[in-house]
Amino acid sequence: MEKQYKIAVIGLGYVGLPLARLFATKYPVVGFDINQKRIEELRAGNDSTLEVESDVLRSVLVQQNPFIKNEKGFFASADLNDIHDANIYIVTVPTPVDKHNRPDLTPLYKSSETVGKVLSKGDIVIYESTVYPGVTEEECIPVLEKISGMKFNEDFFAGYSPERINPGDKEHTVEKILKVTSGSTPEIGEVVNNLYKSVIVAGTHLAPTIKVAEAAKVIENSQRDINIAFVNELAKIFNLLEIDTHEVLKAAGTKWNFLPFKPGLVGGHCIGVDPYYLAQKAQENGYHPEIILAGRRLNDSMGQYVASELVKCMIKKNININGGQVLNLGITFKENCPDVRNTKAVDVISGLEDYQLQVTTFDPWANPEEVKHEYGLSIVNEIPKQKFDAIILTVAHKEFINLNLKDYLKENGVIYDVKGILADCDSRL
Ligand SMILES: NC(=O)c1ccc[n+]([C@@H]2O[C@H](COP(=O)([O-])OP(=O)(O)OC[C@H]3O[C@@H](n4cnc5c(N)ncnc54)[C@H](O)[C@@H]3O)[C@@H](O)[C@H]2O)c1
Repeated sequence: MEKQYKIAVIGLGYVGLPLARLFATKYPVVGFDINQKRIEELRAGNDSTLEVESDVLRSVLVQQNPFIKNEKGFFASADLNDIHDANIYIVTVPTPVDKHNRPDLTPLYKSSETVGKVLSKGDIVIYESTVYPGVTEEECIPVLEKISGMKFNEDFFAGYSPERINPGDKEHTVEKILKVTSGSTPEIGEVVNNLYKSVIVAGTHLAPTIKVAEAAKVIENSQRDINIAFVNELAKIFNLLEIDTHEVLKAAGTKWNFLPFKPGLVGGHCIGVDPYYLAQKAQENGYHPEIILAGRRLNDSMGQYVASELVKCMIKKNININGGQVLNLGITFKENCPDVRNTKAVDVISGLEDYQLQVTTFDPWANPEEVKHEYGLSIVNEIPKQKFDAIILTVAHKEFINLNLKDYLKENGVIYDVKGILADCDSRL
């Protein structure tokens, strides 16, 4: 297998693009995506997810398919012919849940069909999308076999290497995060591991099987979800007792083995979604997961809870709720990141609107068109020159930290801090 690798990355989103860019510093890489608009922006050297800076992207961009001359570099394409000559396929497509929180494997099936059409003898298909244990071998491989007409582990091989990046985090970038790898045979495991080891500075961990690697990823996020659910529950209890949760956590955190989790909204498409993947597989096998689903329920209730806490603060100050004006700061699912998908800030907004409050949302990171498209909500480009009855800091974007909120607040107004970062506020989660 010590041949020259030609890598095709299928799905150029938050995960696929940084990975493709990294591999392109050493190998010929073609990034394939069904979204033509995404291909055009990448060809122009721009990444709207803000994960790869333009100069970094441009330093690997090449004008023609790098497989032709077998030269390193990155080429983006929506044309299947461009990935025909790859020998390594890395699949980084979304793994969402449907409206009933059941795993939706459609993008994985579709991208496996795509790869199946161009697969050749000896190729390796590595999945990176987050899944429950068994998806690669039980769901994706049969599609590859059917479409390609080839036999798994004889004609072609597979691997699984979960991604651990954290959108918006410029410190823990893909090459600096230790990567779990695996292969469909022990020999392929070594090949996959060496391939990643050649670009991942932080090193790799070769798991014994694909299922172990799949399970490891899904429990990383489930563990975070459950820990956050616990501190969210503590916040609800301590708010009733009128004790400051953040001070309690600060005091408890002085013990060497107390874990530093904070209460908050759990959005995005990892921590809030992956536990459902594990839960589904458990249920298929006759086990009803109690802690995992309780954590999900608790975290999903926090948007409404925050809205009602803010309303209570306003009532205490005799502020009129019906028609009251609230400034909501932040709508993306996390700080310093433009991703608005599955953001729980919208639960806060709809919770406040249920009380007939008028909510104005400002978020310098979010794309207003995307917010309109996803949620039917309008957001403003700058904070209007008016005084609000209440201000809620929902997302801790760096732009908000030094903002003088009092400039936008009526004299008797309320400041509510969901993130626990403001020195001066009336209440916080
Ligand atoms: N975003 C994260 O922080 C993160 C971190 C670790 C793991 N993951 C996992 O990685 C996977 C990808 O997540 P993401 O955030 O990069 O998603 P994303 O939505 O940002 O990007 C996915 C890309 O795949 C493309 N795509 C969809 N279907 C396709 C198909 N059939 N063929 C080709 N391209 C297709 C989309 O157009 C999009 O550009 C998911 O399983 C996710 O759970 C995400």
